[in-house]
Amino acid sequence: DDDGFEGRNIVLIGPMGSGKSTVGSALARRLGRPHVDSDQFFVARHGAIPEYFLAHGEAAFRAEEERVVADLLDSPRPSVVSLGGGAVLSAATRGLLRGHLVVMLDMSLEQAHRRIGDGSTRPVLGEHPMQRWAEVYAEREPLYRGAADVVIDSADATVPQRAVTIVEAL
Ligand code: S3P
Repeated sequence: DDDGFEGRNIVLIGPMGSGKSTVGSALARRLGRPHVDSDQFFVARHGAIPEYFLAHGEAAFRAEEERVVADLLDSPRPSVVSLGGGAVLSAATRGLLRGHLVVMLDMSLEQAHRRIGDGSTRPVLGEHPMQRWAEVYAEREPLYRGAADVVIDSADATVPQRAVTIVEAL
């Protein structure tokens, strides 16, 4: 590995809609690393997330998400790993994150409003998506900040610009 980050994974965390998957993919391309996404791996193993929530509930989702994240962080090649917005709720996951370079993609309520819309693909947001988004964000913000080595505001800049900002901040 010659990108200077000592073989650790670069892990993107942050609230729903902050662009962890799209920015992660752009960042990985820039660094010549693989990109993996915990939601995508979850879906490959267990099927669609809204259906899984309905059938098994959030606690079961979190337990399986924790396993997916542990497997992804244990990757043989240093990678860029994008995590679902609630992955940091797991203390075990937060412990594992200490060995990696963790980037929080932050965003404001106004930005969330533009990006998430009716929130239909995110069962956590229920029937009042923006109100719930703000509550969930308030609960999780300290966990994101506590785990992050770097915080990047996802305002305004394009996806490639944000990837550059992250590389410069690392
Ligand atoms: C969740 C966020 C989603 C997905 C699931 C639960 C959450 O990922 O893991 O719907 O609790 O914040 P994104 O952050 O990629 O939307």
